[in-house]
This record gives sequence, structure tokens and C-alpha cells, in this order.
Amino acid sequence: MKKVLTLASAVLVLSIFAGKAHADGKAVYMANCLACHGDKGQGTLVGPAQKGNKFILETKEADLKKIILEGRAGKAKKYPKIPGDMLPWKGKINDKDLDAVIKFLKTDLQK
Ligand code: HEC
Repeated sequence: MKKVLTLASAVLVLSIFAGKAHADGKAVYMANCLACHGDKGQGTLVGPAQKGNKFILETKEADLKKIILEGRAGKAKKYPKIPGDMLPWKGKINDKDLDAVIKFLKTDLQK
């Protein structure tokens, strides 16, 4: 029993440490992006699908970062059938969270 408790607390300490070292891309996505892009990245009436989206997979992280920070609206819009815009996230998301969410879009969300 003591061993199990020791192991459990070691796992807890490790996960707290890991949480501090890396922003959790999934948590960032669930808090900020799911309303328009869907909880599994499947897309909604107000946002395109992220899962299986070739553009997400093939675009460099730095370029995705730019789109997320600057948003996409008006003539720049790529999905005219979707009524809303991609709003600019500049000033609303920190760099660490942004990098983490982009990584999530390109990896775990695609599974
Ligand atoms: C208010 C709804 C909304 C929210 C919230 C939102 N988006 Fe979007 N997003 C859109 C729309 C609409 C577009 C498509 C705009 C267009 O027509 O080009 C888009 C496009 C994108 C694209 C480009 C996709 C492509 O195929 O070209 C990326 C990347 C993206 N969003 C990432 C994110 C991330 C990351 C978050 C969370 C931090 C987020 N979005 C939150 C509405 C939203």
C-alpha cells in the first residue's frame, strides 16, 4: 500500500511538473477554439474543420501562428459559406499557449 501511495505521489509530482513545463494544447483548444471548430476539430456552422484539414497539416507552424494572431476576414476569407470570421487572437493568447495549440492541431487532434 505504501509503495502504491509513493508511486501515486511521484506520478502526481511529475504531472504537475510537466504541466508547468509545457502549456497543454488540448486545454487551450477546448477553452478557446472548440465553439467554432468543434470539440474533435470536425468543424461547425461557424468554423471550418481542423481534423483532416490539409491546410493545417501542410502549413508551417509560423504561418499558422500568423493566421491565428491576425485572424481572417473580409476578402481574405477562404470559406465564403461560413458566415463568421476567424477573429484575431493577438493580445488574447500568450505565445506558449499558441505554440501548444498549433502543435495540438497538427498532432493529437488529427488522431
Ligand atoms: C468565433 C469562431 C472561431 C473561433 C472561436 C476560432 N476560430 Fe478559427 N476560424 C474561424 C473561421 C470562421 C475560420 C475560416 C475563415 C475563412 O473563411 O477563411 C477559421 C479559420 C481558422 C484557421 C485556418 C483554417 C483553414 O483551413 O484555412 C485556423 C488555423 C484556425 N481558425 C485556428 C483557430 C484556433 C487555434 C482557435 C482557438 C485559439 C480558433 N481558430 C478559434 C472561426 C473561429
